[in-house]
Amino acid sequence: MHFKNQTIFVTGGAGFIGSAVVRHLLHDTHARVVNIDKLTYAANLESLPGAVGNPHYAFEQTCICEAAALRKLFEKYQPDAVMNLAAESHVDRSIDGPGEFIQTNIVGTFTMLQESLRYWRSLPAEKRAKFRFLHISTDEVFGSLGEGGLFTETTAYSPNSPYSASKASSDHLVRAWHETYDLPALVTNCSNNYGPYHFPEKLIPHIIIKGLAGKPLPVYGDGQNIRDWLYVEDHARALTLVLERGAVGETYNVGGRNERTNLHVVESICDLLDDISPDTPGSRRNLISFVTDRPGHDRRYAIDASKLERELGWKAEEDFESGIGKTVRWYVDQQPWWQAILDGGYQVSRIGVGK
Ligand SMILES: NC(=O)c1ccc[n+]([C@@H]2O[C@H](COP(=O)([O-])OP(=O)(O)OC[C@H]3O[C@@H](n4cnc5c(N)ncnc54)[C@H](O)[C@@H]3O)[C@@H](O)[C@H]2O)c1
Repeated sequence: MHFKNQTIFVTGGAGFIGSAVVRHLLHDTHARVVNIDKLTYAANLESLPGAVGNPHYAFEQTCICEAAALRKLFEKYQPDAVMNLAAESHVDRSIDGPGEFIQTNIVGTFTMLQESLRYWRSLPAEKRAKFRFLHISTDEVFGSLGEGGLFTETTAYSPNSPYSASKASSDHLVRAWHETYDLPALVTNCSNNYGPYHFPEKLIPHIIIKGLAGKPLPVYGDGQNIRDWLYVEDHARALTLVLERGAVGETYNVGGRNERTNLHVVESICDLLDDISPDTPGSRRNLISFVTDRPGHDRRYAIDASKLERELGWKAEEDFESGIGKTVRWYVDQQPWWQAILDGGYQVSRIGVGK
């Protein structure tokens, strides 16, 4: 009876990973979910089919930097847990305009912590003992790996982009609010996610959509940067497990042991599209073009998720081959979801090249 009679705040629940968490909670648990989202360009309520009208779901359009508005939500819903996913999340955007990243990722997390602490202190002992604040972060806080080695929970932070620096700052705040004020907080650091409902600016949906249209497929630099890909639904399951069973004050790395070069990812998508939708002349691999690299582009990320596997029994269900197959199929079948984003004015164009 997971989360029976419990109310969970999910911030950023209209984003890519947040919506996967909301769908998972509503579908697979008894939790009541309050989705708190400002609805930035990255949000899409169409990513939550079936949520509206579900008696276990509520939506509040609120910015996590607004303390007074958050305070009212805590009073109104009396949550048992907070899952903090709201963030600015695109590295290229953080290069062109870091201000929003500082605001939401750092000031927003600070505000969530302060309001959670105020609320937590007001709770009766039994409910206070069960309350949890789970902060969702990224492996990018650890910086870049060489050819060997894996990020563990004790790897030193070494962020290289405005995005990862803002996430690193937020992780430190969460740790400090636990150590200093005893707020029952936990942190997860996850590798790159992919899957359904991913905004078209990110590598995998970007390449699928351009590949379907037979347009050039840009690969940054030499295409040899390595990411450790995790299917988004595996991440959502990991997060609910950490929330339910994780030890307060701990951090957990989440990753699927699926290291692939960006070029391999793009070539895999080309081959799948050629199979599913063979309407371009020749292989889509011929559309690949190497473009100027991202400044400060981390070379390799790879996660050691053994603590999560050993202590909480989590295991990724998808490997890269099964997950990317499902994902490409989803974008082919669900064109109205992403076409509406393109029609709404989003330009699939290059940003984040710096000076
Ligand atoms: N995408 C990845 O591969 C990945 C990997 C590891 C960790 N993460 C982390 O997971 C979280 C979610 O990432 P995502 O890819 O789903 O991001 P996303 O950009 O798809 O979604 C972010 C959501 O947060 C909302 N939001 C932004 N600013 C807000 C504010 N001030 N107040 C309230 N809501 C706001 C947006 O409207 C959007 O719905 C982020 O914290 C990110 O750092 C992402």
